[in-house]
Amino acid sequence: MKILVCENYDKLSEKAAQLIMSQITLKSNSVLGLATGSTPIGMYKKLVEMYENKMIDFSDVITFNLDEYQNLPIDNDQSYHYFMDENLFNYINVKRENIHIPNGMAKDIKKECIEYDESIRKIGGIDIQVLGIGNNAHIGFNEPTVNFEKKTYVVELQESTRIANARFFNSLDDVPKNAITMGIGSIFKSKKIMLLAAGENKAKAIYDTVYGKVTPEVPASILQLHDDVIVILDKEAARLLNPVDYSVV
Ligand code: PGA
Repeated sequence: MKILVCENYDKLSEKAAQLIMSQITLKSNSVLGLATGSTPIGMYKKLVEMYENKMIDFSDVITFNLDEYQNLPIDNDQSYHYFMDENLFNYINVKRENIHIPNGMAKDIKKECIEYDESIRKIGGIDIQVLGIGNNAHIGFNEPTVNFEKKTYVVELQESTRIANARFFNSLDDVPKNAITMGIGSIFKSKKIMLLAAGENKAKAIYDTVYGKVTPEVPASILQLHDDVIVILDKEAARLLNPVDYSVV
């Protein structure tokens, strides 16, 4: 696990965007695994700027998002479909047919899960997966639990996650209770993983992820076993780490 600590959120976003740009420069038809949440918004802004400045071409890029709420229509402004359009897809030249986001409205949700993993497999796997991390160390919507889920599945959201996300909804009651998410196994198959975290409230989750026991109770701890993980933090999220374990960039 390589850990980079940036002066602030803006630098973190720039670093993350540069890594995505390098990936696309090396392989124009890269398969990107994308995340929602507040953390990657700065990175998406930088990617849009890079696109506008003709530094990146997304025309052959393929994307797979980690997760989506269940039973929230995609035109709801809290759906992750909507989020991705608003923060990235509407402003770059990615082809609509190359965008994949789990369909939380699918009638046959089990089939949707199986087909999602199958689409990733058929395309040759994810080249770089972007991850945020929950206060409870969830990745995607893989909540702390007793076993690592191998495949894309439907998860019941923890109360703490619903409360954390309630800030975007009118009330806690409006936050969906379930989501469809790539499983830990689906995420782990990605060739490269980039985990982003900013802010003091992520410091404990990052500490547990880096130093803790590998356990499904701390879903992100599985990343300790992956060969190619880069963790990009701001100073606050890195606060509990030993400085010998990271580079300041
Ligand atoms: P955040 O969420 O980026 O909004 O903090 C991250 C997550 O819950 O995975």
